[in-house]
Amino acid sequence: MKLEIVILAAGQGRRMHSDLPKVLHTLAGKPMLAHVIECARALSPQKIHLVTGYGTEQVRTAVDDAHICWHLQQHQQGTGHAVQQALPEVADEHLVLVLYGDVPLLEPQTLQTMLQGLSDCDLMLLTANFEETADLGRIVRDSQGRVVRIVERRDADPATLALREMNTGVLAARAGQLKHWLGQVGNDNAQQEYYLTDCIALAAGGGHTVKALVCEDGEATLGINDKSQLARAERICQRRAAARLMERGVTLMDPERIDIRGELQVGRDVVIDVNAVFEGQNRLGDGVRIGANTVLINTTVGDGTQIHAHSHIEEAQIGSACRLGPFARIRPQARLGDGAQVGNFVEIKKSDIGAGSKINHLSYIGDTQLGEQVNVGAGTITCNYDGARKHRTIIGDHVFVGSDTQFVAPVIIGKGATIGAGSTITKDVAAGSLAVARSKQEAVENWKRPEKKS
Ligand code: UD1
Ligand code: CA
Repeated sequence: MKLEIVILAAGQGRRMHSDLPKVLHTLAGKPMLAHVIECARALSPQKIHLVTGYGTEQVRTAVDDAHICWHLQQHQQGTGHAVQQALPEVADEHLVLVLYGDVPLLEPQTLQTMLQGLSDCDLMLLTANFEETADLGRIVRDSQGRVVRIVERRDADPATLALREMNTGVLAARAGQLKHWLGQVGNDNAQQEYYLTDCIALAAGGGHTVKALVCEDGEATLGINDKSQLARAERICQRRAAARLMERGVTLMDPERIDIRGELQVGRDVVIDVNAVFEGQNRLGDGVRIGANTVLINTTVGDGTQIHAHSHIEEAQIGSACRLGPFARIRPQARLGDGAQVGNFVEIKKSDIGAGSKINHLSYIGDTQLGEQVNVGAGTITCNYDGARKHRTIIGDHVFVGSDTQFVAPVIIGKGATIGAGSTITKDVAAGSLAVARSKQEAVENWKRPEKKS
């Protein structure tokens, strides 16, 4: 039977205390709604319907998916009312699966199993047992264990409140029947809303069979209504990501202390120390080691490269067998050739660093093309900005740069040249020559130091 999925995402999420629509708060680097859509897509439905309301424009921009059918719920009058915005576009004989945009950790396999249950019932629910009291709808069963209704927490008496089987928000039925039940739902309840969950009593009362799949993994059904649930869900996502990395052979010094906000591709024998943060798309080659407290953003790292602690690397391409940090700062459009070394307190921006070159201490290299096997001494600065424009520094292969040198760009240093320490280089330097640009040392013999008067 053909499947269509309706995702509810119209609510503001008042309990988040935020201007951002709730479903756009991020988990593992992407909006929680994107997780729900991804899960929905894995079920290969005929169509995915998205019901939005609060912050529709923001949600549309964030999702930007041409295959989604959008529905506007002008006023948020409840989950039942929200589903009704999409149903007119669903053929009666199709199956409808309803997902909530704020329940982002479900896995497709669970939903698949649940949908199979529809072969011998009219309405399928996904439920979970919770030990702690939660702000969730209670599943009420009769003496034979049949589901008869769902009671929202705010409408529950103490006995119902004590029930431990809860509604996850996921429900499936044939569209024709769901339309019929929803048509009869009223709003006579604590929140004066049209609850989707009232369909259960209507179905059961009308002699239809309602079944529930009890989800073993309660964590995966977590709904996010506030920042503390968001933080909890983030940790669950991170734990899952860490488990996937370890399955692939990555050594994590502590799987509880890693954050992957995007996608991380890894080779063999990668070792990652604690508190590493990976944002966007990152790729680590074989044998890469990432030091503690390092941040990598949209970066590629070649085989055997070691990045030492406290380094921050953004939109860079790092070659093989390089050594970076501790405390290296690599900014966008930096490319490091194989075997390059960048040490502590070195900042590199929009520069090509040739293979085997070393910039080991306290330097700024920006808008620079640096050749191979260049040695850059401590405290070297490329003065790339004249207050209005940026200029390039070009340094040939095998150049030796003495410590505390400034290159006032634009400037070109020929191959094999040597720059004396403490130089301010304002003119091009010919290949193979020595350039020294500092005042000459003077000596005054028998110099008498000033003395304090007694
Ligand atoms: C809902 C369920 C509850 C269940 C819980 C699971 C109802 C009435 N209650 O409660 O039984 O245990 O989820 O997490 O369904 N939404 C709209 N339009 C609306 C109202 C809500 O699109 O008018 C969307 C929200 O954006 C959200 C989802 O529906 O993504 C759930 O709404 P929410 O208000 O969070 O319901 P809960 O109180 O969590
Ligand atoms: Ca919710």
